Amino acid sequence: MTKLARAINIEDLRALARRRLPQVVFDYIDGGAEAEVTMRENRRAFEAVTFRPRQAVSNPACDLRTRVLGHDLSMPVLLAPVGYCRVMHPDGEIGAARAAGAAGTACILSTVSGHRLEAVKAASTGPMWYQLYLTGGREPGENALRRARAAGYSALVISIDTNVLGLREREARGGMEVLLRGSPWSKIPFLPQLFAHPRWLTRFLLDGGLPTMPNIVMPDGRELRVSHAHTALRRGHFVWNDLRWIRELWPGPIVIKGVLTAEDARRSVAEGAAAIVVSNHGGRQLDGAPASLRVLPEIVAAVNGQAEVLMDSGIRRGADVVKALSLGARAVLCGRAYAYGLGAAGERGVARALEILRDDLTRTLTLLGCPSVNALDPSYIELPKT
Ligand code: GLV
Repeated sequence: MTKLARAINIEDLRALARRRLPQVVFDYIDGGAEAEVTMRENRRAFEAVTFRPRQAVSNPACDLRTRVLGHDLSMPVLLAPVGYCRVMHPDGEIGAARAAGAAGTACILSTVSGHRLEAVKAASTGPMWYQLYLTGGREPGENALRRARAAGYSALVISIDTNVLGLREREARGGMEVLLRGSPWSKIPFLPQLFAHPRWLTRFLLDGGLPTMPNIVMPDGRELRVSHAHTALRRGHFVWNDLRWIRELWPGPIVIKGVLTAEDARRSVAEGAAAIVVSNHGGRQLDGAPASLRVLPEIVAAVNGQAEVLMDSGIRRGADVVKALSLGARAVLCGRAYAYGLGAAGERGVARALEILRDDLTRTLTLLGCPSVNALDPSYIELPKT
């Protein structure tokens, strides 16, 4: 039995990724912003919710199927946009998209992708959505939108929580910025962690080393270099008014990601969002932001059925998905949960992460006495007394 097959939960995949990746790459996946209060809160919020099982009911096979933005999915778990996947493993975004398609679910490609968006779409057999950052300004955004539309992406996801990147302290200490942008001399102290992982390093070098960002084409016609991505992000963040020109280029459904208040949820609906994602970016942006799960009920109430409500941040088990759905989410996005798999074993690792979550979901629903994900409602859970 391989180590991958022996991974029985997402934490096991995390441990594998930690062993197989250089510290700085692992910390890019694993780390959160500043004191990581929000990141921990995400987990605490899930753990504080308890189930109210209906025992001794007859239990035919549990139905995990659901419909999100018109797509029939085999389970209510989509792959969140995750940046720099190709640095974790050469399979990168292509491997993630392929694994999602094979599992019968959707995948959202991040702007910060090392593979061309056309190649990622072509590799997938499932629905693909494109996540837009206005990195580098409006022109690269327009270019990406035209390409994503031509390639057949079916929805556009706009992140509204990233007008500057959060300070991920572990990543900074691990030397991310220095390795990307520093002088050759300044990199020296950080090189041993790369050499300590010869399998990762060999794959990385054979794949051409640090990828460019082929979906961010700057006005001079060049692809953005990874070393400039953080600065470029600062120069072009999204504001609501951008939706005017975005809508002209994107007639399809728009998903607003990063909503944490009823106010922003109502604004998203008023701006015509087909779906919103309740998200604190996995605790990677504003530290001190609330756990997504805690604000989910307020947002579901504010949206009042006028858009689909998805959520992310902190999903590590199928039981977490069941809790989010009981509180009104139609489906969840997982980010780290599959990125650990990708770092551990490329596409196969992503497939394993999805398999773990699927098995969890079936088992949890069965133990809960609930026949289908669509039958979940607040009566299946008990919220913590505050
Ligand atoms: C980018 O969105 C990141 O969280 O690193």
